[in-house]
Amino acid sequence: MKKAVVILAAGLGTRLKSKKPKVLHTLLGKPMIAHVLDSVAKLRPDKIVVVVHPHHEDVHKVVKHYHARLAIQNRMSGTADAVKTALEHLKKFRGVILVLNGDSPLLSPVTLRQLLSKHQRTRSEISVLSFTAAEPYSYGRIIRDSSGKALRIVEENDLSDAEKNIREVNSGVYAFNDNVGKLVGRIQLNRKKKEYYITDLLEIARLTNHACSVFDIGNEAECHGVNTMFDLIKAETIMQKHIIERFMNAGVRFYDPGSVVVHPDTKIGPDCVIYPNVCFEGKTVIGEGALIFQGVRVIDSKIGRRVVILDHSLLEISEIGDDSVVGPCAHLRPHTKLGKSVKIGNFVEIKNASLSDRTKASHLSYIGDATIGADVNIGAGTITCNYDGFRKHHTRIRNGVFVGSDTQLVAPVEIGKNAFIAAGSTITSNVTPFALAMSRTRQREIAGWVKKQKRKRK
Ligand code: UD1
Ligand code: CA
Repeated sequence: MKKAVVILAAGLGTRLKSKKPKVLHTLLGKPMIAHVLDSVAKLRPDKIVVVVHPHHEDVHKVVKHYHARLAIQNRMSGTADAVKTALEHLKKFRGVILVLNGDSPLLSPVTLRQLLSKHQRTRSEISVLSFTAAEPYSYGRIIRDSSGKALRIVEENDLSDAEKNIREVNSGVYAFNDNVGKLVGRIQLNRKKKEYYITDLLEIARLTNHACSVFDIGNEAECHGVNTMFDLIKAETIMQKHIIERFMNAGVRFYDPGSVVVHPDTKIGPDCVIYPNVCFEGKTVIGEGALIFQGVRVIDSKIGRRVVILDHSLLEISEIGDDSVVGPCAHLRPHTKLGKSVKIGNFVEIKNASLSDRTKASHLSYIGDATIGADVNIGAGTITCNYDGFRKHHTRIRNGVFVGSDTQLVAPVEIGKNAFIAAGSTITSNVTPFALAMSRTRQREIAGWVKKQKRKRK
């Protein structure tokens, strides 16, 4: 059977009290809607339709990135109207339609698949995914008769006092066959809220003799819907806990897991040791056996095996070869590429530069727009002067060069292999291989000068 997925994401998210559309709020660096789209993509649906608000252009962008279809909902008149808007894009579709809320970012593809297979196995025409909530408030309740047959879904506002005790609630996930989709038009306005509720579809389907099922197979953590800032942070905490637990089970040692941030697209190899307050963001990859100290933040970077990153370093879009050591307090800006066994020490900033195997820059340097060979020693306080106020220029340092401390390399400049630059030099022209380059005034001495000065002052 073919399957289409509809995601409802046009709501303003009033309860979040934010100007930003609800589904753009991020969990671990990724917009809520992207989490839902990622889960849905794993079901390999034939079609994905996302219902969006006409003015939420940034939501449209995310949806287009996933190659999903946009259905613009022009009147914000409730979830049934949102589904109706989506169905206009599925007029010719024959098969099962899975509807879910864009504000349920923790739903797993496993549960969604389970709902679809139960829907088909029981030959249901509409199936609702329910779960038992410790805090049912804020969810629609599942009303069953004494035989257990599901009758309808009732929202919090419309519950009788007795019904308020029901803890089986609607997850907002529904699977129905295309023929049941035709019944959405029959849904009446809810008079209290002045909205059309998709939840009414269950009762309408039952009263028109369609096969209805409600499967209580969800769990509260994964069905958690985000309406308020509190809900959002709770969802993020649940998601973070899952990710960290997954890495713990894969052999990663965390000293203070509660203080560590690991984004969902990050990978950490076994035998890594992660100290407190570490942040791995985006598509970061940490190689086996890496040691990451306190307060390190790594963004979209690839860290090799057995790399050590010392306290309070920031690494952005960089690549670090095996057995290298970085930090403390190093800043690797975008497009830094380090070979194997490279050593970058404290207060070194590197940008758009590659340093080959075994090269060292141990203290207080700026290396920008440079290609540096293997076995190079960059002395303390070395600076590549890459910017002339208008343009950026490149510095090239060949294998085996020794750059003395406090050297300025005025780019564009090339230092030939095994050359030696004396400390305190300002290098403005190329240096030939094996040469000694020196550019500083010769030291001179005036004997007894201090004594003479003191006598004068008296
Ligand atoms: C909804 C369900 C509730 C269920 C809960 C699960 C209804 C009436 N209620 O309640 O039974 O327990 O989800 O989380 O459906 N949206 C639109 N267009 C609209 C209105 C909403 O696209 O006109 C979207 C929202 O962006 C959101 C989703 O639909 O992603 C759900 O809307 P929301 O207002 O959050 O419904 P809940 O009150 O959470
Ligand atoms: Ca909601």
